This record gives sequence, C-alpha cells and structure tokens, in this order.
Amino acid sequence: MKSIILAGGSGTRLFPLSRKKFPKQFLSFGDKETLLQKALKRNIKAVDSIEDIVIITNKDYQFHVKNQVKDIIDFPLEKLNIILEPIGRNTAPAIALAVKYALEKLEATEDEVLFISPSDHVISPDSKFVECVKKAEELAKQGYIVTFGINPTKPETGYGYIEADTENKIGEGYKVKQFHEKPDLETAQRYLMSGNYFWNSGMFAFSIKTILEEFKKHAPEIYNQMETQTFEELIMNFEDMPDISIDYAIMEKTDKALVLPLDIMWSDVGSWDSVYEVLDKDKNENVKIGNVLDINTKNSLIFGNKRLISTIGLEDLIIVETDDVLLIAKKGEGQKVKDIVNKLKESK
Ligand code: GDD
Ligand code: MG
Repeated sequence: MKSIILAGGSGTRLFPLSRKKFPKQFLSFGDKETLLQKALKRNIKAVDSIEDIVIITNKDYQFHVKNQVKDIIDFPLEKLNIILEPIGRNTAPAIALAVKYALEKLEATEDEVLFISPSDHVISPDSKFVECVKKAEELAKQGYIVTFGINPTKPETGYGYIEADTENKIGEGYKVKQFHEKPDLETAQRYLMSGNYFWNSGMFAFSIKTILEEFKKHAPEIYNQMETQTFEELIMNFEDMPDISIDYAIMEKTDKALVLPLDIMWSDVGSWDSVYEVLDKDKNENVKIGNVLDINTKNSLIFGNKRLISTIGLEDLIIVETDDVLLIAKKGEGQKVKDIVNKLKESK
C-alpha cells in the first residue's frame, strides 16, 4: 500500500493565521508539530516506511513541505516522493497525477492499493487510525473505493455526506447508496435526522485498477490525459485538467463505494470554532496559546503571537493575533472569517 498525502489546498478559513501563501496544513495548534507533520507521522505508521509515502502539493509550497519533513524525519530530501503541481486543479487531477506517479516512478502494479488522505486534519489516536486503514486496504483489494465515515453531530454544509446501505454489510463496512458532496443546510438537516448518513472524512482507499476504471467511466476528460501522457507530460500540461474535486468527479457517481465507520476523534479544523473544540481547555474553559494574561475570562480562544495579550472580563471570544492582523470574533461566528477574507480581496 502507498499513502498519498494531499497537501496542496490553499484554504483561508483560519485567517489571519492561514493565508494563501501559508495554508492550514503547515500550521500547528498548541503544540510543536504542524498538521502536515502529524499527518506524515500517522501515515508512516500505517504504511511502515516513508518510502511508501507520496506528498502532492503545489510548487509554491514545496519549501514549506520540505522544511517541515526535514524537521521531523531524518531522511534524504532528494529521495522524498514529492509531486509538485504547477497549478492547483483540485483533488481529482491531483489524485490522477499521484496514480501516474505510483505506476511510473514507484513501479506499482494496478493491484497496488493507494490510501489517500488530507494533510490538514486532526485525528487521534493514531493506533485506531492505523487499524482502520489496514481494514480499508483489505476491502480496497476486493475492488471497492473505501471511504471513512464519521458520525455526524450537526448539519455541517462543508462536508460530503455518505448515505450507507445499512442492509448491505461488507466486512466492517457498508455499501454506499449515494455520496452527496456539500449539501445545502436544509438537506444536511434531513441527512442528520435520518440516521444512516456519515460525514465523509476526506480519506479514501482503492486499488489503482479500480480508480482507473472509475476515472474512465466518470471523468473521461481526466482519464484520457492520463492514458495518452507520461507523468512528466501530465505535469507540463496540467493546466488542461478540469478543476474538480474527487468528491464531485467520482465519489458522487461511482457504485463501488463502501463506507467504513471511523470511531475516532476527527476534526477538519475548518474554523476557529473547531480549533477551540479540539484543543485542551483550562479550568475556565479557555484555550490560551502564547503569552496570555487573563482575569475573569471564560470560554474563549486566545491565540497569541509575539505580544502579551491581556484580557479582563471577557466571554465567548476568539482572539487571534499575528504580526499584521488582529482578529477578534464572537465564538460561534468563526465561519464568517471567509467574509472578511473576501472583503479584503475586494479592497485590494
Ligand atoms: N495536491 C493538492 N492539490 N491538494 C489539494 C488540492 C490541490 O489542488 N486541493 C485541495 N487539496 C488538499 C487539501 O490541502 C486537503 O488536505 C485535501 O486536499 C482536501 O481538500 P479541501 O479543499 O480541504 O476539501 P474540503 O475540505 O472542501 O472537502 C473534502 O474534505 C471534507 C472533510 O474535511 C471533501 O472530501 C468532503 O467530502 C469532506 O467531507
Ligand atoms: Mg478541508
């Protein structure tokens, strides 16, 4: 099995800490290791060796990736399997490129299983993750596209929803009736109520043979480019790829999907509110990072940088300080950070 780590996204939902030039996967929250470094360590446990790992990212992020790998692992960087996309085309073309890399550069056969995972999530414990990936590998060998389902707790519209066919159990998984990427709120509420839906955690396992068949059937535009070009040619002509995620290109259309329930702490830390949720709190339910001095402050996230942040009598706030920006938001409204980012873009 090879593990493919997707590290080319450029989300700005954690503005002002995450920026286009420095997205979430390269950040750390409350400890030394960044999300990418944790993803790498976790994936090494699942496949045993860093040589079985491929990191795919945008060329603009190559130094972030290399520096962060070098910081945690003693391994010659020139041997690192790293694919640099010249332009972002979302996850379907990224995965197509990784498939081609595995076939051409790692001499994988079509029976090889690929485990695809994001680089910007929080997952624990690693041991349960590894166990689940191994189970997924077995199912992927049988021709399934394995997804990893999280029990939904709210009608989140930023996730894919996996409708499980609970009558149709295969191993420890279920056949997927239908995959629904990012529904609107009303639909998400309905899914949440019905009980047989999972959140898609963004990880997938499949054999190269299976995914090639599915690209051919559901995304011929991508498949034809994979078929007629070498890995280097694909990179050179990467602009010709459609801009589409694997969720829309394949997962919503395939009938080979299985869902393996993932009973684990998982968060995509997609907003400051979810950063607050996953971190340890003090006795006043505050998360304090950096140099913080507080009196009578409750239920707040205070994320400092260089300056001392002092707070008195505050409640339910998100405070994030960087060199050039200070964000102060009401807890529960962290999603609106994207509106600030849009306003900033407009004003430029
Ligand atoms: N190499 C590369 N190139 N990686 C990319 C690209 C790209 O063009 N675009 C995104 N990624 C990486 C991101 O860095 C992230 O690690 C992963 O691929 C997923 O991309 P996101 O852009 O974060 O997707 P999403 O969060 O909107 O949705 C996906 O994840 C959700 C769970 O967090 C979907 O799979 C949803 O169905 C799922 O619920
Ligand atoms: Mg994401």
